Amino acid sequence: MVDMDPKIIDHVLSTTRSVRLRLDFERPVDPQLILDCIDIAEQAPTGGNIGSRRWTVITDSRQKERIADLYLKTAGNWMIHARERLAGTGHPNEKMFNSAAFLAENLAKSPAIVVPSIIGIHDNSGRPGLFDSVIQSAWSFCLALRARGLGTAWTTAILAESDELKSVLGLPSATTEIAMFPVAWTKGTDFKAVSRTPSREITYFNTYGLTFENGPDIPFSFLNGPGMAVEVDVAARREDAWSLMSDINFGGKFSSEFVGADWDEGFTGPEIGATFTGRNRNEHLGDWTAKCVIDVYDEGWLFGWCTGDISFPGARWRYELIDLGGSIRIRHRVILGPGESGLTRIIAEKPEIESKIIKKRLLSLGQSMQMVLDGMKDQLEG
Ligand SMILES: Cc1cc2nc3c(=O)[nH]c(=O)nc-3n(C[C@H](O)[C@H](O)[C@H](O)COP(=O)(O)O)c2cc1C
Repeated sequence: MVDMDPKIIDHVLSTTRSVRLRLDFERPVDPQLILDCIDIAEQAPTGGNIGSRRWTVITDSRQKERIADLYLKTAGNWMIHARERLAGTGHPNEKMFNSAAFLAENLAKSPAIVVPSIIGIHDNSGRPGLFDSVIQSAWSFCLALRARGLGTAWTTAILAESDELKSVLGLPSATTEIAMFPVAWTKGTDFKAVSRTPSREITYFNTYGLTFENGPDIPFSFLNGPGMAVEVDVAARREDAWSLMSDINFGGKFSSEFVGADWDEGFTGPEIGATFTGRNRNEHLGDWTAKCVIDVYDEGWLFGWCTGDISFPGARWRYELIDLGGSIRIRHRVILGPGESGLTRIIAEKPEIESKIIKKRLLSLGQSMQMVLDGMKDQLEG
């Protein structure tokens, strides 16, 4: 039996990066190594257990040049332009375009270019498992390369010119290409894991949107730090969304539960520690106000507050703006507890249905939160 060391496997899984600047174009790659990686990749699951994946490995210089020209035409030239436009701006995508443009300029130098494909057309024609039988295999290929000191970048831009790509490679018309991988040895192997959203924030238990800071127990309890997340994609500029949010009353414009808010006396500007009073209305809970204090703040990106004591909050609320490159995503979250709130008082009255009370409250909050996001979207896009 082979000893499986999760540490090594997890390392490969979390450090298989898009390698472009560090591809070694000088060092030849033995085709057998690529075939070995394809053998590994072919172990991936396949719908109906039907082997329909086909791999094209391009090593001929003339063929590589034709592919590189096509890549420039589909997106490469645009990437080069984007690199020039973003150079020195500190834009979140500056580094990525620097690397993407480099690949576009040098693709033909790759020792090999690999195009995984699948027999069949991905046209929603009733075989949903077909397309889904190649993605996981292509990713296994990337991991197998990484495990051997080789590298690649998952690229798809060239697929926009599928007919021309097919004609260069001689692919049958009833075949779907999935990606294009430049393959080379990497300069060094010390790639790092990157920062991604923690699983607890994007994993929902039993119902979409329900998050937990720990556990959750079954049935879940208030001590699990239950929360709700809603989001909306908006065709607008981040600056405009931020400016809409700079009015502390904005939630009240769009929701029936969050009626409004007023900065407390002495307010000098939105910053951590600034306090305001939120006004709320709910058909079951009546009217109430909540003392709020800003507990996270990142100008232009993140705005959050908690109710009650900052070190033992009754609830934590967050608005986050995410750049999607041309549009934005607004993500709105609430995390209940650990301190007291109206909810803890209701739970204290009927502890035997704690889980039910929490879920009902979170779903109702989620509806109000979604109303605010939908209202923001309407206003920003309108
Ligand atoms: C579906 C998909 C398509 C992509 N297409 C391209 C592409 O055409 N060209 C390119 O240079 N990178 C492409 N990438 C790579 C991403 O730009 C890359 O994943 C991103 O820069 C993050 O880097 P990381 O993979 O190292 O985390 C693609 C990635 C995915 C998942």
